[in-house]
Amino acid sequence: MKNTHEGSRVEYYKQYLPAVAMIEDPAKAEAVCAVWDTMLEMSPWKGVEEAKFKEGYDHVSLISHVNSTIEAALSVSRIIRKHHQIDFDEQKIIIFGLLHDVDKVIEYAYDETGALVKSEVAQKIQHGVMSAIVAHENGFDMDMLHMILTHTTDSKLRPVIKEAILFGYVDLCDWDLTCRYAEP
Ligand SMILES: [Fe+2]
Repeated sequence: MKNTHEGSRVEYYKQYLPAVAMIEDPAKAEAVCAVWDTMLEMSPWKGVEEAKFKEGYDHVSLISHVNSTIEAALSVSRIIRKHHQIDFDEQKIIIFGLLHDVDKVIEYAYDETGALVKSEVAQKIQHGVMSAIVAHENGFDMDMLHMILTHTTDSKLRPVIKEAILFGYVDLCDWDLTCRYAEP
């Protein structure tokens, strides 16, 4: 067991994923952190800050992508609400944002040459599936599993929940710009 966080795990994850502190229901915050802990336990990383965003991109951390997409999704949702009176559930955006890429913790690893590559899990199991399995084990409902499973372009099903639709555009935007311009 390598996840022997000092204090509570919610306090540990808040340091790296500030949106954890925005979750109103303490049981949901605990469950989100339990999902991250399970992934971290299966990963090669000593701490969540070491988790990577994409193969070949050692210079981009997973937590920077997660934090960026959550902040951006909340901002965009508020702008759309202001101009079009479309109501978004911010708690759903925050929790989904925290869970949407949690399986990236186990999808990348360094090979024997020191290159950051896709792990065996990433090669054999579609992105999102491991996140959904562990989220299900921690009590998240079908809507959350749907959002996780459909957020990737690998999925044949597309999201039908507005928070997931909105998040998908922001996620792709952050992914595309990071891949193109993030400085090593
Ligand atoms: Fe993402």
